[in-house]
Amino acid sequence: MTRRIRIFDTTLRDGEQAPGFGMTAEAKLEVARQLARLGVDVMEAGFPAASPGDFEAVRKIAETVSGPTIAGLARANEADIRRCYEAVKGAAKPRIHTFIATSPIHMQYKLRKSPDEVVKAARDAVALARSLGPEVEFSAEDATRSDWNFLVQIFTVAARAGATVLNVPDTVGYTTPKEYYDLIRYLIEHVDAPEGVQFSVHCHDDLGLAVANTLAAVEAGATQVECTVNGIGERAGNASLEEIVMALRVRHDQWGVETGINTREIYRTSRLLQSVTGVAVQPNKAIVGANAFAHESGIHQDGMLKHRDTYEIMKPEDVGVPESALVLGKHSGRAAFRARLEHLGYQLTDAEIDSAFQRFKEVADRKKAVTDHDLLAIIGEEQAHR
Ligand code: KIV
Ligand code: ZN
Repeated sequence: MTRRIRIFDTTLRDGEQAPGFGMTAEAKLEVARQLARLGVDVMEAGFPAASPGDFEAVRKIAETVSGPTIAGLARANEADIRRCYEAVKGAAKPRIHTFIATSPIHMQYKLRKSPDEVVKAARDAVALARSLGPEVEFSAEDATRSDWNFLVQIFTVAARAGATVLNVPDTVGYTTPKEYYDLIRYLIEHVDAPEGVQFSVHCHDDLGLAVANTLAAVEAGATQVECTVNGIGERAGNASLEEIVMALRVRHDQWGVETGINTREIYRTSRLLQSVTGVAVQPNKAIVGANAFAHESGIHQDGMLKHRDTYEIMKPEDVGVPESALVLGKHSGRAAFRARLEHLGYQLTDAEIDSAFQRFKEVADRKKAVTDHDLLAIIGEEQAHR
């Protein structure tokens, strides 16, 4: 049977935490509705204790968006957990996601707590959250810079206190695929958790390894992956949802797993997020960038016109992009030039094409991209000279 990977989207929490990505409550609700259409399994709607606005946004999403589990983030203390509960309790499937840092550097300098105090805080937080009713996820913040046996201890305590999802964040984007694979395997083998407890991963992109680390963790046995649309998030961002989902799909032969994502909604979701945040993705962004399905060089365009599979490993329609684009520029060849003219309704003889193509190359040397408007002007000039 194919293993099912759950997609935990944290665009509205970790993504929104990044400078310049703040969203109004209405914008968060609009994105939440789209995330539900996209088919995420869990959406982390916000951090209710962070501000009254975030509390309201999470409450509204919990009460009105159906389909996914709705999670809220809470530090491992009573006030945060009760606040989070009030925000998520209206959801059909609510989740409290509580966390505490476990690395020596965080425990000593940030929390000023001993490891024993941290374990106690985790136990109390999970037990309280569970007693309120929702499903509970526990995260060991900065797990990848923590002692592995301490992680085994704290995850075992959290699972026994009622957490059914154990999340292993690479909070500062420090780990590497091989190391993360080994850590996830180690935890799966050593944490003494009841049957059915899920191991989750959450990667940041400080070294550009977030997606690679996530995929390594899936290979090691993780069944929930945490990610954001367009990879937005703290500092260099989080692992990108669209890249993980399409890698798992296109290279199904490698992982043999599936997600519940309706991939045809990916592009629409990406565009919506860009429009509500006002931050565009770079043109060469994998899957959703403007150039992800655009071809300019003559050799590539010629190949594409003969068979799309020559230069495309997935169909644009599969991610909701209407069609591939053959962009006419100085690297383009005669085949794409002729195809575009035919598309515009011009059937030219070989001699006419030769002459117009020469003119096109002159224009292309001056402009980054040659538009249909330019082509019409070229044809107009050619006809005037005949
Ligand atoms: O990066 C991180 O450690 C987090 C946790 C709160 C899960 O975002
Ligand atoms: Zn994070």
